[in-house]
Amino acid sequence: MKKIGVALLGLGVVGGGTYRILTAQREYIRQNDGIDIEIKCVLEKNLERCKELGVDLSIVSTDIDRVVNDPEISVVAEFFGGIEPAKTFLIKALEAGKSIVTANKEMFSKNWPELEAAAERGGGGLYFEASCAGGIPIIRTLTDGMQANRVTSLKGIVNGTTNYILSRMSDEGVDYAACLKDAQALGYAEADPTADVEGFDAMYKNSILSSLAYKKRVPVDRIYREGISGIAVEDINYGKELGYTLKLLAVSKNRDGKIEARVHPAFLPSGHPLSSVSGSFNAVYVHGDSVDDIMLYGRGAGALPTGSAIVSDIVFAAGREVHRRFPWELETEVKDEDFATDFSSRYYVRLTVTDEEGTLSKITGVFGRCGISLATVVQKEAVSREVAVIFVTHETRESVMKKALAKIEQLSGVENIAALIRVEE
Ligand code: HSE
Repeated sequence: MKKIGVALLGLGVVGGGTYRILTAQREYIRQNDGIDIEIKCVLEKNLERCKELGVDLSIVSTDIDRVVNDPEISVVAEFFGGIEPAKTFLIKALEAGKSIVTANKEMFSKNWPELEAAAERGGGGLYFEASCAGGIPIIRTLTDGMQANRVTSLKGIVNGTTNYILSRMSDEGVDYAACLKDAQALGYAEADPTADVEGFDAMYKNSILSSLAYKKRVPVDRIYREGISGIAVEDINYGKELGYTLKLLAVSKNRDGKIEARVHPAFLPSGHPLSSVSGSFNAVYVHGDSVDDIMLYGRGAGALPTGSAIVSDIVFAAGREVHRRFPWELETEVKDEDFATDFSSRYYVRLTVTDEEGTLSKITGVFGRCGISLATVVQKEAVSREVAVIFVTHETRESVMKKALAKIEQLSGVENIAALIRVEE
């Protein structure tokens, strides 16, 4: 029986879930995987939390060197969150030849090249299944289940907080602020919800997933990002009337060798499999040139779902003599020509206009002269002098759309551009 020692850095929600799974399933994993996983050290300051989980206090420490210098520890799982000290501790562990397991998408996405280099030096592996979409095995799918494929596109609902908020807005017609408050009360959203609602969390995940999908480094700063805090319930409702569901999507595509990666609210046709993913659930939809479309669905957060991904990584790392490398992360240069900057998309546009003759024809005239083809035009009957006019365009380049809207904004009778939302197929 292969025996391996593990260290857990932090015993918060996911660290605690992992502790519980490793303890409860030790025998099950021994039987099924032939590996005996022993928790040799826990780094945690909060002794009450350790006692609550039933951790033997003799393995609790606050000293990373105890982990790094223990030759019986071969896998280090990190649950601190944030950049430091997680990054420094994990680089130390890697340089000592250990494999690391992490759910820390911000630290990992921003520092993958450095971690990769440290893993190369030490010989251990990088395991980060839990960093994207919690318990869903999307990383393993991309690395170990799709070798026969060139991935051409990836779309994901990878943030449960925003999916919960948008689902409530859609189902109950409640506005953004009220849904956010409920999400905070339920523990989905943090007191400072910025990372979730402004799309940062989804951007980190998109960076990791797209790098794996296209075997090219897709740094966080190459990803266009827009959050959901400006979304109005009325646009969700108008979208519904047109057969669309609104989601915060992490999207990436590889078109003609150029990668485009973005995070933003997007309308999906209500028949798209991702549109039925509601509440705090996550799902990732990938197109590979051999397998065609696949979709993985499940819980994107939580102690046991995320702990499930962590334990899977620990078992996987423990079973490997030679660890997977991600060589593109070691390339020092990220080339501009590998990335598209002017994306093409369909758009939903809502304008507020004054209800008078000629306004609509002036607007459609601008779209036409800019070469933008309209798929749908809806004008709601006026209840006041101001009226909402909604356009859904065929695919057009973003730069062309922006030029058209700058002209439309100047037209007499146009009060404002009330909403601009991309439409994905
Ligand atoms: N904050 C994330 C979410 C969970 O709301 O999905 C952890 O990635």
